[in-house]
Amino acid sequence: MMNARVPHLGTYRRELPISLERLYENAIDWEHLPYLHRSTFSRIERIDSGDWGFRARVWTHPYEEGRAFVIELKLDRDCRRWITSTLEGSGSGTEIWTHAFSLAERTTLVVVDFFAPGVRGPAVIRLRDRYQKLYARLYDEDVTMMSLREAELDRIRAGKPSGKVTREVIGKLAELRARLPLETEFGGMRFKIVELDGKLVAFSTRCAHLMGPLGEGRIEGGVVECPWHGYRFDIRSGECISGAACRLAPAPTVKIDSDGTVVLKTT
Ligand code: FES
Ligand SMILES: [Fe+2]
Repeated sequence: MMNARVPHLGTYRRELPISLERLYENAIDWEHLPYLHRSTFSRIERIDSGDWGFRARVWTHPYEEGRAFVIELKLDRDCRRWITSTLEGSGSGTEIWTHAFSLAERTTLVVVDFFAPGVRGPAVIRLRDRYQKLYARLYDEDVTMMSLREAELDRIRAGKPSGKVTREVIGKLAELRARLPLETEFGGMRFKIVELDGKLVAFSTRCAHLMGPLGEGRIEGGVVECPWHGYRFDIRSGECISGAACRLAPAPTVKIDSDGTVVLKTT
């Protein structure tokens, strides 16, 4: 039962073009907070997590080591809801209840109720407005991620042809260099071509973790960082250097013919 001692501040509602399954996945996905929601969160440290949800120490902006708070998110699939509670730190005792109503296979209504202890008078309105604005921004960011992931899963379910192409001409080196970094398709998959130490290298733009848009990731020193959860991959080998047991799909090699034609070839 909802804790009646904690006053209700207000509600945020939104119909999302997303399946219930993607929303559950997103709710318990603690890792995306400081990456996808970098506008709000600066750091997270997992305390515990599982299919039930997670407990974590989080920091917002501006980052201050001593200003962490502990949150817990508990997912109850039977009741189609998840409750986020602040257990320690600023806002301790706050509870955010999210109920999800599946309106169609890919349409879900979320109703988010905010409860905070010790807030009275005009402060109730101020805090309610803050939460509503925050949730609007968080869902804007989440919808982008969940929609892209659904589209990638659809592509996999549709079984798009891949691996049949063994060679593809990309263009002349001189004009290609001017367009780098460049995204291209090869064998039904997307790759990004970059120049590393004077050599052209291609890597898969589908993140090996949860299929994030690696083509949009920051590249530094031959390493690309995924914008969704921050996993980092060695562009040349495809290896995940963040310690996760995943690696990028094999990429074609980039060859330059004697007449300066750039060609992608299966390795
Ligand atoms: S999808 Fe999670 S790190 Fe890329
Ligand atoms: Fe999110």
